[in-house]
Amino acid sequence: MNPTAIGAPGLLLPTLALPPSFTWGVATSSYQIEGAAAEDGRTPSIWDTFCRVPGAVVDGDHGDVACDHYHRMPQDVALIKSLGVDAYRFSVAWPRVQPGGTGPVNEAGLAFYDRLTDELLAAGLDPWVTLYHWDLPQELEDAGGWPNRDTAYRFADYAMMVFDRLSDRVDTWTTLNEPWCSAWLGYAVGVHAPGRKDFDAAIAAVHHLLLGHGLATQRMRAAATREMKFGITLNMGTADPATESQEDHDAARRADGMGLRVYLDPLRKGEYPADMVEELAARGSAFPVRDGDLEVISTPFDLLGVNFYFGQDFSGTDEQGNTHDADGHPIVRGVPLDRPRTAMNWPITPERFTQLLVRLHRDYPGLPLVITENGAAFDDTADASGFVADDDRTAYLADHIAAVVAAREQGADIQGYFAWSLMDNFEWAEGYAKRFGIVHVDYETQVRTPKQSAIWFRDTIGRVRGA
Ligand code: FCB
Repeated sequence: MNPTAIGAPGLLLPTLALPPSFTWGVATSSYQIEGAAAEDGRTPSIWDTFCRVPGAVVDGDHGDVACDHYHRMPQDVALIKSLGVDAYRFSVAWPRVQPGGTGPVNEAGLAFYDRLTDELLAAGLDPWVTLYHWDLPQELEDAGGWPNRDTAYRFADYAMMVFDRLSDRVDTWTTLNEPWCSAWLGYAVGVHAPGRKDFDAAIAAVHHLLLGHGLATQRMRAAATREMKFGITLNMGTADPATESQEDHDAARRADGMGLRVYLDPLRKGEYPADMVEELAARGSAFPVRDGDLEVISTPFDLLGVNFYFGQDFSGTDEQGNTHDADGHPIVRGVPLDRPRTAMNWPITPERFTQLLVRLHRDYPGLPLVITENGAAFDDTADASGFVADDDRTAYLADHIAAVVAAREQGADIQGYFAWSLMDNFEWAEGYAKRFGIVHVDYETQVRTPKQSAIWFRDTIGRVRGA
């Protein structure tokens, strides 16, 4: 290949020891791109509601129109095809398929995903379905949301509606995207929908999200008539102690416990980590486990989706040197690493990506990994034609793909890489201000223009394949 064609000769990857079977893809989610919020019977999700809360989302942005993907789906599939990828990871909007989260299928809503699946297959692209990427029907939140056990059963029923319709054509199924964000950001910190600030509710949400995953996985697997892959996607970072002090070691352990082990231990070992259970008990809280739940949650699955953006160090003291907060709870403070940052103010830490992947391989063996999201927001400047010469994003992708290759060389079984995101979209509480796309979107005209990173990504895939 010709290095000048990608405009960034320094970014050629030194090694590309990736097999032809390695899956390359791009990812999106329903609420972030679809728009058509009130069409064909779709009812509000918690994000439609949250976006209306003054101050909840930057600039009061919302997903009513987003990238208008609902109306531009065939062109968007052609765009994905033009990027040279194998697969497209998208999510299904629960309130489109089952408005209100109970009752019968809404045929008009499900038909959209039926058409999308057909369009992808006709383009030679593999559809990867995520069943839940945060758009809980508002009515289910009104009934208690994820802290309410019944939501797990509602989720499994909804999953089967999608599975029954698409499983003749879709092979790869992900139950949940990033339950940590749903539980923690949604119910404890309150910066994501539904915006609650209730620690015990977040702990209950963790358990019911995992239960919903297990119930849905069991039912889908039982109904599968051919070999399929079932999985869950977690967002994970690394949690190293900021110093050698005991407080910092404890803070790192707690951050890793609540961020990673409270998901992967029950999923893979059928138990919550003892240190976290003990700490919860010390503050009068507990996962609401009933008999049999952990067997359901630890139902075997085939793929772990890894979403990685950055790794962190942790400190057990606040900036004033206190080891406990006003309520007497130990401090767990992320310490920003001294690195270049993205527009999200996230440090760029590709070596921590390798560290995470090798650790997953070591601590949770026998579980194939797929990178279901990785990417970066930068303050893009489009030229008059809409083109963005995003050296920064291109470098981020190159460094992180190299980190995947390095982890594979250390034994991690990583089977694919999906860039986040196909195109600029609604970045949750950050609204449209933060752009993660490898394709630029002009929100006035809805024109899509591949950025330099998209061209680099396409050429990289071609190079790996020997094209
Ligand atoms: C992840 C989300 C995804 C996107 C990226 C930047 O946490 O899964 O929807 O917002 O972050």
